Amino acid sequence: MEEKKIIKVKSFRFDPQKDEKPYYDTFNVPISGKMSVQDCLVYIRENEDPSLAFFINCRLGFCRRCLIRVNGKSCFSCLTDAEDDIVVEPLIKDQVIRDLWSKDI
Ligand code: FES
Repeated sequence: MEEKKIIKVKSFRFDPQKDEKPYYDTFNVPISGKMSVQDCLVYIRENEDPSLAFFINCRLGFCRRCLIRVNGKSCFSCLTDAEDDIVVEPLIKDQVIRDLWSKDI
């Protein structure tokens, strides 16, 4: 049986409609095989917090709409492997629609 590694995903949270200021939530995500950061976000939404907002579309690196910051570096969440604890943030914090989903640049 395959051992599952648990990583911590610390996510920026902010809903301009109801939150006075941004905050962070931390989630435990079991990693099995090769998982992208976007796979981790999908896991969180499906298993821990259905309100986590982020952009997902092609999951193949074509649409270029899933740009976020992972540990401070901008990257496509669908193309970035999640191997250890990570901090995920929107690309531009002052243009957030909700959580990791920000306006197109
Ligand atoms: S979801 Fe399309 S590039 Fe990542």
